[in-house]
Amino acid sequence: MRKIKDIRPIQLKDHKLYVLNQLKLPRKKEWLELSTYQEVAEAIEKMIIRGAPLIGIVAAYGFAIGVKQIIDQNKPLEKVKDVFERLKNTRPTAVNLFWALERMWKKFEKWTGEGKKEEDLIKDLFKEAERIDLEDYHANKAIGGYGQVLLPEKCNVLTHCNTGALATSGWGTALGVIRSAYENGKDITVYVDETRPYLQGSRLTAWELVEEGIPHYLITDNSAGFLMSKGLIDAVIVGADRITASGDVANKIGTYTLAVLAESHGIPFYVAAPTSTFDLDTESGKDIPIEERSQLEVKSCGGCEIAPEETEALNYSFDVTPASKITAIITEKGIISHVDRDHITKFLRYRGV
Ligand code: MRU
Repeated sequence: MRKIKDIRPIQLKDHKLYVLNQLKLPRKKEWLELSTYQEVAEAIEKMIIRGAPLIGIVAAYGFAIGVKQIIDQNKPLEKVKDVFERLKNTRPTAVNLFWALERMWKKFEKWTGEGKKEEDLIKDLFKEAERIDLEDYHANKAIGGYGQVLLPEKCNVLTHCNTGALATSGWGTALGVIRSAYENGKDITVYVDETRPYLQGSRLTAWELVEEGIPHYLITDNSAGFLMSKGLIDAVIVGADRITASGDVANKIGTYTLAVLAESHGIPFYVAAPTSTFDLDTESGKDIPIEERSQLEVKSCGGCEIAPEETEALNYSFDVTPASKITAIITEKGIISHVDRDHITKFLRYRGV
């Protein structure tokens, strides 16, 4: 078994959250201290931290920090709703954000009914956020364990965006599967989409792979079809920001293109995600709110303007891949190998999700 370095993107100390500033990677490892819920919300909005599971975890800590702020400042507890709303309105697509905040809200409501002391509330909320954090780490290791079995002993895998330790509590989902396969001695080469415009692939995934010593090539997003046509790609594996009841998957813009290409080249297309990414209240992909970000992100690259000022750009941050194009969804509870409403419902129900 190979030795794999443990990268962790956040740390809690004395009720403050320290986050690795992902905007500075790969050039600099800078830790930022977040001591108010407003700072936490801004860090999510500005993508100082990002990735669906990590957004949820950080928001959970942000909620606990916010409630502590309210209590420390002797403000009425009705203000907790403002904390909830502020954090909830940071990014719209990743369902893990809402899932984690709902979990925190339930803890808060339970406390109000129990008549315990305020210091107990603070303790309970930080504990719950830590639980969400730790559960995610273990979920990722389980996803890695199930998923790596799907990859051949010698394998070229294409991945998109960043789904690694930096997008989660640690280890990662899609990149976690690659890590687990590599850890188990498989001969893996990763093809990393640079992932324009935010370059999560080149800035973050490539950085993680360098840290781990996992062989990889960085490719432009538009290379995938050519590489597949040359027989260079054995599998595509991506993460998810939201999986609907019918199995449609919202993930970083460009994911759908890869799924279509993979299908037409007969290459398996895997999605790896914890069960917290399922949104059974949303029926199909067309109901998922898709984040649109500033057009300036498209009109510039690495701080340089790359388009005429007058040109309008579109910047959808996510797209939707229909269930029919997905070979399997890898979760911490096992693998869903028929991706449709019926199999998803049964899978989640029988596993108590
Ligand atoms: O905009 P981002 O960087 O938050 O988008 C990240 C992705 O799309 C990931 O693929 C997804 O969140 C899964 S991360 C385990």
